[in-house]
Formats: sequence, structure tokens, C-alpha cells
Amino acid sequence: MLKAQKAIRAMRVLVVDSRLEERKAVAARLEQEGYEFVQEGSSGEEAIRVLSRGLALRQPVDLVLLGLNLPDRPGLEAFEEIHSVFDVATILLTAPQERPLAMEGMARGADDYLQGPLNLGLLLLKSEKVLTKRFLRRELRRSTSRNETLFLNVLAVMAKVLEAKDPYTRSHSENVSTLASSVAREMGFQDDEVRRIGIAGILHDLGKMGIREAILKKPGPLDPEEREVVKRHPVIASTILEPIEQLQGALGYIKYHHERVDGTGYPEGLKGEEIPLGARIIHATEAYDTMISRRSYSAPRPPQEALEEIRSLSGMQFDPQVVEALTSVLRRRGQMAVKDQEQTGRSLAELLDDLTDKVRVKE
Ligand SMILES: [Fe+2]
Repeated sequence: MLKAQKAIRAMRVLVVDSRLEERKAVAARLEQEGYEFVQEGSSGEEAIRVLSRGLALRQPVDLVLLGLNLPDRPGLEAFEEIHSVFDVATILLTAPQERPLAMEGMARGADDYLQGPLNLGLLLLKSEKVLTKRFLRRELRRSTSRNETLFLNVLAVMAKVLEAKDPYTRSHSENVSTLASSVAREMGFQDDEVRRIGIAGILHDLGKMGIREAILKKPGPLDPEEREVVKRHPVIASTILEPIEQLQGALGYIKYHHERVDGTGYPEGLKGEEIPLGARIIHATEAYDTMISRRSYSAPRPPQEALEEIRSLSGMQFDPQVVEALTSVLRRRGQMAVKDQEQTGRSLAELLDDLTDKVRVKE
């Protein structure tokens, strides 16, 4: 037996019908076909009990073969109750006169129906089809989640490599990611976009990997030539990350995170709305975090002063909408005297975990 077929035979099936003979025949035939976990019930109450117990034991039922007009739940009542509470596939077993009811059940989300008189061969085929679909969906979900985890681990390694090379960026990526995500949320972005901006925050300075350590660790101010070298880091980062499919939406935020709304930034001198909004958010939050952090050539500045400077450059260097959102976030957190990272105290691993949660594929 193929591995998938074996997994499908190991899925849990519940047969619920008030007609004892039919129910017994269905259960016996399923077992004969190799289904390992077949249970029976004769009422809606019993069905709910078996489904609840399966959930509690972490052995949920995968498919209910459900007769209509059960003694304690007439018509579609049992189906509706089950469908609204449990994540379980359903095939309705209907008598010929119940066809309109079966159609209504299909319209409300039943997976299939079988009209009597009972044809066991056909019922087996339908059950197998529904369970195969469910199995494939589950496998797809697992592999998507595995890929996502792998991808986020690669991001974490990249950020750590940069931190090892440039100690002054330590915590900077995490701070920018956390703050930029909050600003994006403040501006009303959806979860997907907040996540993209958070990831861009982690990776925005990755291009510094391509810059000589002598420049990155220089204790004094940089000379003009060295400044030109440092200015290459956004383009280097976007070149490194370009092949990663999952990052396509965030690349522009990384490449343009040093553009200024008045057009005096780099690498392309874009102006205003030519600069992706995500990049404008990273730009302002990075500037804030840089000002309040100790760098190789300067002491940290008080958060209040840093925010005032950013506000004074609103409409010139910084996007006014972003400045307003940043101001609200910082004031609301009441952390004018505390650095963002110290306030949130989250590690890169926790941050990535949080971002993973937002994209976990739903049932
Ligand atoms: Fe940068």
C-alpha cells in the first residue's frame, strides 16, 4: 500500500445514522477496506460527544458520514451544529425523499452526499475522495510551514552574521524591525504588510556585510570616500536578497531605506511618493534608533531630542505621515526616556517567532 493511501486509511471516520442496519453495514465495509478507526453513533448528541472527545484527545475525527433527520435533531440540525463547531469533512447520507435537504446541506458546506438506497461501493469512493483531499491539504500546510520556518531561520542567520561583523548594529536591526512594525500598524497596514516591513527592518543594513570592517569600525567620522562606500549598502543588500522569492515584496523597502522625501537621499535620489512607503518607515525608525544608540563615533542622544530632530525634518528628510505615526507610537509607549529594545526586551528569535505566527497557514 502506498504511504499516502496508508495515511488515508489511518484517518478517523464516524458513521452516524439512526437506521441501525445501514449504519452497521457502512462501518463493517469501511473496516473491511482497511480503515483503522471507525466509530458509530445513532444520534446527534452521540456524534457531538465523539467529536468532542476526539478533539480533547488530539485525535480528531476527519470524516462524518451523517444521516439526516436524526431522532434528536431533525432535518439538517445535526449537520449545522457539527459544521459550525468542528473542522471535519461531512458526507450526508440521505433517503430519496430527502434530496432537497441534501442539496441545502451541500450549499451550506457539506463535502458530498449519497442518496439511498445505500450503495456501499459508491460511498467508499466518495469517502476516499473527500479524505484524500483533506490529506493533501494537510500535507501542503505542513510543507508550507516547514518552508516558512527554514526561510525565517535563514533570515536570522543573515542578521546574526552582520551583527558579528559590525558590533554597532547589534540590536539595531531588531529595534528598527519592532518599531517599524508598530509604526506600520499605527498607519493602518494589514498584517501581511506589517510583516513585510518587520522583515525589511531586520535586513535593511545587511549590505554592510559587503563593506570593509576598517570602515564599519572606524572610531571617528568617515571621510567623503568612505562615506560613498557605506552608501552602497542598500544596493548590496537588495542584490544579495534578490533571489529569495519570499522577499520580493520587501526588497524595495530595503533598497530605498536611505532615500529622503526631498530627493537628497540615496541610492537614486527618489522623491516623496516615489519612495515606497515601507522604505520611508524604515528610514525614519532607523534614524531614530541610530540617534539614541551609541555608535563608534558618537554618544547616544536622549530619545526626546532625537524625536524632536526627526519632527523638525518632517517634509524634508522624513515623510510627515510617518513622523506623525512614529510620534504617536513613541508617546503612547511612554518610552521617551527608554530605548525601544530595552523597553520591549525581545530577542531576535522571539521577534522572528512573532513574525512567523502572523503568516502561519490557517486551517
Ligand atoms: Fe542603513
